[in-house]
This record gives sequence, structure tokens and C-alpha cells, in this order.
Amino acid sequence: MQVFAILPAAGLGTRMAGPQPKQFLSLGGVPILIHSLRAFASVPRITAIVVAVRKPEMERVRAQIAEHGFEGRVQVVEGGDSRQESVAHALAAIERGSGAAPDDIVLVHDAVRPLIDAATIDRTIDAVALHGAAIVGMPAVDTIKQVERTAHGALITSTIPREFIVQAQTPQGFRFKLLQSAFAEAMADGFVGTDEASVVERAGHAVAVVPGSAVNLKITQPGDLELAEFYLQQQRAR
Ligand code: C5P
Repeated sequence: MQVFAILPAAGLGTRMAGPQPKQFLSLGGVPILIHSLRAFASVPRITAIVVAVRKPEMERVRAQIAEHGFEGRVQVVEGGDSRQESVAHALAAIERGSGAAPDDIVLVHDAVRPLIDAATIDRTIDAVALHGAAIVGMPAVDTIKQVERTAHGALITSTIPREFIVQAQTPQGFRFKLLQSAFAEAMADGFVGTDEASVVERAGHAVAVVPGSAVNLKITQPGDLELAEFYLQQQRAR
């Protein structure tokens, strides 16, 4: 059984100040994308990694990958207008390239979660082997409210018991055939999800949850980078 990893990295990062998309910002002197790649490259069961980036960035990313010694296992493809489209391009490249078997496993990981660790990646692969689909998720600690948006701001419509809430992180892993057919169904229906699990859920397949951690943060807003630097220093001091 082969295990593939897809890193969508074609976002524009509009929520972060500055011209540089967040996946290329430096964290401890190394681009965020390279940290994410390094984590997946450190897992021996992962056969190949596909990174999706915007066309103007393809050459620069290829050079960074070579500079950090990953070129043998990493392929760069062009991303799309949505995260789902970027992942679809990478899936198509896997199918064209190595001829993935239906039971092979595909993990998708946000390039902007650079502090993912090998043990969590391994646990996700094990859960996918058992359940066919599994994601990393964090139990909610805050009380969760459902709201209605009004002209005067948000109004609470209900409280969702937090024991039923998990915040989805990545990696999100699936059997190759399951992800491919769920993506084809979503495309035919014009459905665009914000993660891969939502695409697989709507195809009617159960998705298991592997415990995540606050360290696996998604660098999204100003301030997140400083927090990630802090966690990185802690990891390096161990
Ligand atoms: O925009 P969002 O926070 O959902 O981004 C999650 C991940 O998906 C990021 O790593 C981003 O680079 C990637 N992405 C992508 N193609 C897009 C939009 C986002 O690969 N068109």
C-alpha cells in the first residue's frame, strides 16, 4: 500500500498583512511550506508528496525544494482558484504519475500548518487504514454559538453543546478511490467545501477523528506567526 501526501499551497493569504502569501513567510529562517514538507518527508511510509502552488511560484518552489534536498519525493503542480481545485489538480497528478491503487492512502495537509508532527501523521495513516477516512481534529474548549448575521451584527440563535464539536485540522486522509469519487461527485454538483472531509461526508462515508493539538495551528492571521515561532523554539529546546 502506498501513501501519498498533498500539500495545497496556492492560496493568496488575503487575511495576512503583506504581499507574500503566508506559506512562503519565514518561520525560524525557513519558509513555512518547507517546514510542512519536512514533516511529511520524515514519515517513511509516505511514498510521494505533491505540492500545489500558483503558476508564477512554481519555479521558485521547485528551487526551494531542491535546496532543502526533497526533490526526489516531491512533485510541484499548478494550483487552482479554490483549495478544492488545488487538491483536485494534485490528485490528477498522482493518478497520471504512479497509477495509485484504489486502496492506497492520500493525506491532504494545509501547507500553512508547519508544526505538524510525524507521530500525528502516522496516527492519521493508521486511522485511514482502519476506517477508510480520518482527519485530525481538536475537541472544542469554548462554548459554541450558532448565529444569524444581521445588519447590526451577529445574533445568537442557539448554543451547540461543545461535546458534539470538533475543530477540523489537517492532515485529512482517505483511501484514494474514496477521495477521487467524492471529488468527482462534488464537481458534478458544483459543491465546494472548505476541507476534504466535507466532500467525503456528503458522499455518505463516515470520517473518523484523530486527536490534534493547538501546536498544529494554521497560520492565518497576524499574530499566528509569532505564536508559531514560540512553539518552534520550544520544540527546538527539547
Ligand atoms: O484559504 P485557506 O485558509 O482555506 O487555505 C488552506 C490551504 O489551502 C493553504 O495552504 C492554502 O495555500 C491552500 N489553498 C490552495 N489553493 C487555493 C486556496 C488555498 O492551495 N486556491
